[in-house]
Amino acid sequence: MKVAVLKETLPGEARVALVPQGVQALLKAGLEVTVEAGCGLSAGVSDEAYREAGASVSPSPSEALAGAGVLLHINPPSVADPDELAGLAEGSILVSFLDPLGNAALVRRLAERRITALSMELVPRITRAQSMDALSSQATVAGYKAVLMAADSLPKFLPMFTTAAGTIRPGKALVLGAGVAGLQAIATARRLGAVVEAFDVRPAVKEQVQSLGATFLQAEEEVAAEGEGGYAAELSEDQHKKELELIAGAITGADLVITTAQIPGRDAPLLITEEMVASMKPGSVIIDLAAASGGNCAVTRAGETVLSHGVQVMGPLNLPGMIPVHASQMYSKNIVTLVGELVTEDGAIELDFDNDVVGPATVTHDGEIVNERVRSAIGSPQEA
Ligand code: NAI
Repeated sequence: MKVAVLKETLPGEARVALVPQGVQALLKAGLEVTVEAGCGLSAGVSDEAYREAGASVSPSPSEALAGAGVLLHINPPSVADPDELAGLAEGSILVSFLDPLGNAALVRRLAERRITALSMELVPRITRAQSMDALSSQATVAGYKAVLMAADSLPKFLPMFTTAAGTIRPGKALVLGAGVAGLQAIATARRLGAVVEAFDVRPAVKEQVQSLGATFLQAEEEVAAEGEGGYAAELSEDQHKKELELIAGAITGADLVITTAQIPGRDAPLLITEEMVASMKPGSVIIDLAAASGGNCAVTRAGETVLSHGVQVMGPLNLPGMIPVHASQMYSKNIVTLVGELVTEDGAIELDFDNDVVGPATVTHDGEIVNERVRSAIGSPQEA
C-alpha cells in the first residue's frame, strides 16, 4: 500500500506530516512512501533525505497521490483544492487534523468521496495513545514558542542581572491554564529566569506547577471545576467571578501573560477583561493561545497583535508552524504510530473500528459520518 505526503498548502505553514525517520518506520511496517518534491524543505528535510530514507519523490501533488491508499497531512485539506481532495481515490484513507466539529463542509465532502478520514484531534487522551497525541505534541511546541515570542516583544529582560550598572529584577510571568501548553510555558519562562505564577481550575495540576518552580495562585475559597477524563469543566457563574478576582489581583504585577485555558468542545473561557488589560503595566505582553476558539482575553483578535492600553495582546494561530523542524518530527512520530494501528503484520491495511484509538478517531468511512459526536454536531452527509 502506498502512503503519500504532500506539501501543506495552508499559507505560512512550514511543517510537514512525515520526516525521514517516519518514512523508515512505515517501510519497515511493509508500506511504500511517496512524497511531493520540496514538501519538507521548510521543515529542514531535503528531497535527498527522503530518498535516502527509502521514499520516492514525485514532482507534483497529483503524481504523489496517484495510486496512493493513504494520505498523511497536518492541516485540514482545503475542500476547494482539487489536488488535495479530488486526487485522493475513493476508499482511500486520510489521516490529518480535520477540525471535524467545526468544518462541516470538509467532513461531508470526505463522506461523499467515500474517504476514510481519521482525525488527529479525536485521538483519545488515553495512556496507550500518548505517542499518537498530536494535540499534545503541538501544544508543547506552542507553549515554548509563546514564551519566546513574549520575551522577544518585552521591552525588558526576563532574568535577574547583577551588573556594575545596577541590579535588574527578574520579569514576572503569569500562566493561565496549566495543561500541556501551559506547563511547557511555565517551564520555558522559568528557564529564562522569570518568576512565574500560574492558575488552573484543576487542583490536580498544582503539584506539577510547583515542581516546575512556579507559584500556584490560590483564592481564599477554592475555584475548581474538574470534569471527566481529567479535563476541566465549565465554572459556575459565582466561581468564574472568583476566578476573575484572583486573576485581577495577580495580573497587575505581570510583565508577560500566557493564556491557554480551554474546555474541549466549548468556546475558550474569558479570563482577562479589558479592564484587567488596562490595569497592567504599559509594555507588558499577553499571548493568547486560545485565540482560535474565541480567546481567553477580551481584546484578543485571532491571528493579530492588538495594542490595548499600552499592552501588546497577541493571538497567534500557528505557533507550532514557527518551530517546524521539531514540530514536524513530533507530529511525524504521532501519525506513524497511529498508522501502525491500521497495518497488519504482513503490511496490509485493516480498519478495526473496535480498536480503542482507531474507532474514536475515525470520522468518515464508506460514505458515512461514523463518529457519533461529529454526526450530531454537523448532521449527516445528506443534510448538506
Ligand atoms: P489542555 O486541555 O491540555 O489544557 C487546557 C487547560 O486549561 C487545562 O489544564 C484546563 O484545566 C484549563 N482550564 C480550563 N478552564 C479554565 C479556566 N476557567 N481557568 C483556568 N484554567 C482553565 O490544552 P492544551 O493542549 O494545553 O492547549 C491549550 C490551548 O492552546 C488550546 O486552546 C489549544 O487550542 C491552544 N493551542 C494553540 C496553538 C496556537 O498556535 N495558537 C497551538 C496549540 C494549542
